[in-house]
Amino acid sequence: MGRLELDYTNALSEVVGAQHGVTPQELDALAGPSREALRAIQARRKVDLRWMDLPHETAMHERVLEYAGRMAGRFENVVVLGIGGSALGTIALHSALNSPYHNFEARGPMPRLFVLDNIDPDLVGEFLDQFDPAQTLFNVISKSGTTAETMAQFLLFRERLIERLGHAAHVEHICVTTDERKGVLREIVKREGYESFPVPDGVGGRFSVLSPVGLVPLALVGIDIKGVLKGAADMDERCRPEDLRANPALLHAALQWTMQSKKHKPMAVTMSYSQRLALVGDWYAQLLAESLGKRKSRDGRDVFAGPTPVRALGVTDQHSQMQLYMEGPFDKWFTFLSVEQPDHAVTIPSAYADLEAVSYLGGRTFTELFHAERDGARVALTEAGRPNVTFRFPGVSPHSVGQFLQLLELSVAVMGEHYGIDAFDQPGVEAGKIAAYALMGRPGFEARRAQIESASPKRQHLV
Ligand code: PA5
Repeated sequence: MGRLELDYTNALSEVVGAQHGVTPQELDALAGPSREALRAIQARRKVDLRWMDLPHETAMHERVLEYAGRMAGRFENVVVLGIGGSALGTIALHSALNSPYHNFEARGPMPRLFVLDNIDPDLVGEFLDQFDPAQTLFNVISKSGTTAETMAQFLLFRERLIERLGHAAHVEHICVTTDERKGVLREIVKREGYESFPVPDGVGGRFSVLSPVGLVPLALVGIDIKGVLKGAADMDERCRPEDLRANPALLHAALQWTMQSKKHKPMAVTMSYSQRLALVGDWYAQLLAESLGKRKSRDGRDVFAGPTPVRALGVTDQHSQMQLYMEGPFDKWFTFLSVEQPDHAVTIPSAYADLEAVSYLGGRTFTELFHAERDGARVALTEAGRPNVTFRFPGVSPHSVGQFLQLLELSVAVMGEHYGIDAFDQPGVEAGKIAAYALMGRPGFEARRAQIESASPKRQHLV
């Protein structure tokens, strides 16, 4: 079980210059604030930041595994009905740790996994056209239990199940993950007798992947959740030291804050040189954006804070976005996700010995070519004065991905302290939810509806 490493050499002034890189003095100046930030976060571990302890909640892990064992072999499909933090972690870990062709494999004991994290009728309707609800387990996931998208999907699939199986039998096809005590979904669980799991207090959506929110669907499709949790627990220990340069979460948070506030780089590009980690980058994008994108500071001032996450995929985006990254504005810094040892060894066949422009490839491996492209892109960016760091995964394994999740969650929590904002609320998301409730006629939201309607432009300008 190898260690995930953060290589930050190319983010330093000694490599990319003081205009774009972090100087030793700038890091030294953050030693005290980082220590204070870590203490503040750790003090809340058992209070309102219970996500920090999720890797150590063994009783809950055993309950999830017992349920997954009981359900094994019973369904062809597992469908997650959830959105945002109730979906992105599952998508990330499934794509990282199961085969990209998992859903096309001949069905053994492992069901297919679909995460319907949108309500586009073409997505939902097509699912109904293609798959039999009677062969499907639906995991309805909503911490609040009121998110309109998730509840609409729940109502739809519940009805289809009842039509197909009858009321009594449909119950076995629904498993709910929601708040331990509050919310309408918890009330529905009580009425219907659905199997259910809690989203514990102190675990917000984007910090919930290691709670039943992520663990239940992942265990149902055969992910080694204990391996993921062990990786997260190991990283939790590595992120205890108060010395900035010895703690990867403190170091990473210090770099992000310095890049934005001192080096004028509001864009944080995550460039995954791993197809399997690409959607882990999507998970991080939500974590960063929703946690740090805040209008108000903690003392109530307008600050309009937050980096803009950008996702890119190596090598694909070398032929798309790289031109901008190399020669465009100096408003970005880069995080490479890099895998030392892929699972597959694929050799390029030798042919056309007389054509040098292709013959040099013969006998080399795809790993060599992939790594050469990655290293070439990193060198070129560095030479162009574009600061970058690399998360070096020994391989894509449950243990390494678990380390990454815990590290980034802790890092973003510390960033919240540096930015001076509340990293754990999401008033902007709630505002969108309230507007949707109002426009859909939910009782209690009439005033908001009237407000929206009166603010709508009186005349449309179309061309
Ligand atoms: O991270 C968050 O808090 C959000 O992205 C939520 O997860 C998302 O809005 C879904 O909310 P809920 O789980 O309450 O349905």
